[in-house]
Amino acid sequence: MSAPKEIRWGILATGGIALTFSKDILLDPQTRGVTSIKHTVVAAASSSGTARATQFLKEIGAPSTAKAYGSYEELVKDPDVDIVYVSTPHSHHYQNTMLVLEAGKNAFVEKAFTVNAAQAKKLTEKAKEKNLFLMEAVWTRYFPLSYYVRDVIASGKLGDIQLVTADNGLCLDPEQTMPDGKHRMVNPDLAGGALLDSGIYALTWLFQTVYTTLPRAERKAPSVTSALKIYQPTGAADELASMLLVFPRANNKDVHAIATTSIRYSSDPLGDLSAGPACRVHGDKGEIQIFPPLYRPTKTRLILRDGTVEDKEWPQPGPGKGSGWFNGFGGIQPEGEGQGMFWEADEAAYALVEGRKESPLLSWEESVLIMEVMDQVRQHGGLRYPEKIETTDFPVAL
Ligand SMILES: NC(=O)c1ccc[n+]([C@@H]2O[C@H](COP(=O)([O-])OP(=O)(O)OC[C@H]3O[C@@H](n4cnc5c(N)ncnc54)[C@H](OP(=O)(O)O)[C@@H]3O)[C@@H](O)[C@H]2O)c1
Repeated sequence: MSAPKEIRWGILATGGIALTFSKDILLDPQTRGVTSIKHTVVAAASSSGTARATQFLKEIGAPSTAKAYGSYEELVKDPDVDIVYVSTPHSHHYQNTMLVLEAGKNAFVEKAFTVNAAQAKKLTEKAKEKNLFLMEAVWTRYFPLSYYVRDVIASGKLGDIQLVTADNGLCLDPEQTMPDGKHRMVNPDLAGGALLDSGIYALTWLFQTVYTTLPRAERKAPSVTSALKIYQPTGAADELASMLLVFPRANNKDVHAIATTSIRYSSDPLGDLSAGPACRVHGDKGEIQIFPPLYRPTKTRLILRDGTVEDKEWPQPGPGKGSGWFNGFGGIQPEGEGQGMFWEADEAAYALVEGRKESPLLSWEESVLIMEVMDQVRQHGGLRYPEKIETTDFPVAL
């Protein structure tokens, strides 16, 4: 067996998700049955200085040779970096990712991809021009659970899909937990609000069940009807979003799809799945249910009209009990259990090895289309962010 191909990551920003992602990708890939690639973190950069980058590298257990940079500009020039993980708030994704691509580096960008579709389109054009890999890091799409759900739908087991509902409520109690309004969840300067942060997951479930499951030539953009509720304390971020998407299909087989999201209520108030599934995909032969949270689901139920009821658990792999290893974002997972972010990193690694520039499970075209849907929802709800983060000008200091 040949040695696994090593993918050398540079981590741009050292916040909460950068920590979780980096710890996950540094796990031995064999813990999830992956043998042909492996990940290493060769550098990290913090906008607050080298000391924070050094501390971050220590926290994630990076090799002692990994370099710490006090600016993003230095990181993107590092010749040892194959791909840069952009993990700043979404307000900054466009500027930071353009910096990465302009420097000739492959880019892997946290969700939401950008603030608006015009920025997303510009990034894909730049990646094309420079012949670079670019991917919006919607980790959930790469879970084995998601492959299973898409396969069930594409196989026709559910018959013709009629309706999909998906809900992602975060239960953040914003007045208590972020009273000064500066947190990226509610801060307009950081493109705050439910839609871009958590609505993207509800939309992901609509798209990956109704849109991604079709051959490319048959995929059609949905019409969008929606309502937004504005978070009053900061005035220009949304706290609740409701969306009705109608995906056109030939022969009167249009699919209705409803996404809801909130920073205030929870999709699973007791944290024990007692509220039932957060996503239901209804076909004329049955349905598949995905249990919350929709960003990291670990349970599905298939119910067919022929009497089949099939429950499946999808625990995330990792080094296991007794390892003393812990990871997690928004809650620590049980000992030895990965967060599940390694699957998306594996997809990026396979793409680099194979010379692919995008992921077929979330193509550039689909990322741009989802941003177009969110643009429409913001337009219906009268939500516009400050010009400096909506612009496609580059470079702009933020
Ligand atoms: N996939 C997931 O499960 C998941 C979960 C959470 C968040 N996310 C996404 O990841 C991104 C970051 O979220 P996070 O929770 O990690 O945020 P965070 O903890 O606030 O970290 C963001 C980091 O970005 C850098 N940064 C640069 N300019 C900044 C500014 N003006 N204000 C704040 N931070 C700034 C900072 O790092 P330096 O000081 O080191 O430069 C900061 O630590 C968001 O786009 C979010 O949607 C994804």
